[in-house]
Amino acid sequence: MHDVNANGASIPALGFGTWTLKGEEAAHLVTHALNSGYRHIDTAALYENEEAVGEGIASADIDRGDVFLTTKVWTTDLAEGDFQRSIEASLERLGVDQVDLALIHWPSKAVPLRETVLALNDVLERGLTRHIGVSNFPVRLLDEAVALSANPLVCNQCEYHPFLNQDAVIAACRKHGMAFVSYCPLARDSDLLTGEPVSSLAAKYGRTAGQIVLRWHVQQEGVVAIPRTRTPARVIENSQVFDFELTGDDMATISALGTRNMRICDYDFGPDEWD
Ligand SMILES: NC(=O)c1ccc[n+]([C@@H]2O[C@H](COP(=O)([O-])OP(=O)(O)OC[C@H]3O[C@@H](n4cnc5c(N)ncnc54)[C@H](OP(=O)(O)O)[C@@H]3O)[C@@H](O)[C@H]2O)c1
Repeated sequence: MHDVNANGASIPALGFGTWTLKGEEAAHLVTHALNSGYRHIDTAALYENEEAVGEGIASADIDRGDVFLTTKVWTTDLAEGDFQRSIEASLERLGVDQVDLALIHWPSKAVPLRETVLALNDVLERGLTRHIGVSNFPVRLLDEAVALSANPLVCNQCEYHPFLNQDAVIAACRKHGMAFVSYCPLARDSDLLTGEPVSSLAAKYGRTAGQIVLRWHVQQEGVVAIPRTRTPARVIENSQVFDFELTGDDMATISALGTRNMRICDYDFGPDEWD
């Protein structure tokens, strides 16, 4: 597995997503992922699983220092003071002194971006996180956040899979030296993995459909993917995408599915306009 270098951060190109995983199951899956070679775990205050994620990390056969741990601050906590308290509470639940990456989970219309970006920089400068970044930021807001931030932002975590073209946001991340982290990388419960062309490509490469799609992500410059599964065998399956390569033509064939323009995470509280 390679790391993506982003404004001083080294982010493992594949992470384990934990949305919907809870309690003992989440803890066991996180331990299993780390013992299977993952070095990157994605959680959020919203997921109500930080205690379990922390337990899972503590139970794994690797040092905390070898795990790249991300958490996020929910939209109700973006004001000065609330933001810092949210991160402190996350650290307490996770049982760690510091996370590796703290993200603004979604941009908000209620709190000025300047205020939240200052608070984000404050948690960095106080050592509560090693790096800072954003999530669900369209290009216009990303440019604003970068301009407002005294310290570099290292990633923008956004929905991305073959059914959604994200060329504009990825180009903006590259311009700013940031990583683009793909969430819903498998397009969650859609027909992506069972339909064409992914099924035929799986047969062609002798890989599973999930591996074809995850390979498509990590083969793109500066892109990190954080698939989620509650199936222990798929935890391993999803990590085995660094020993083969898709041809340029096959990459293009998968990318062509983006014309479907399918957005899974589109909420009223989100940005008015996506790129
Ligand atoms: N920043 C944000 O706003 C945001 C939003 C959404 C998600 N995220 C993050 O991104 C992570 C991933 O996104 P996601 O959980 O929405 O969707 P996803 O990873 O695209 O899809 C998860 C689904 O795919 C299935 N799956 C996993 N591996 C598979 C494989 N090899 N073959 C067939 N099916 C497979 C899982 O089923 P089983 O569990 O049954 O195996 C699960 O139903 C989340 O867990 C979370 O950490 C962030």
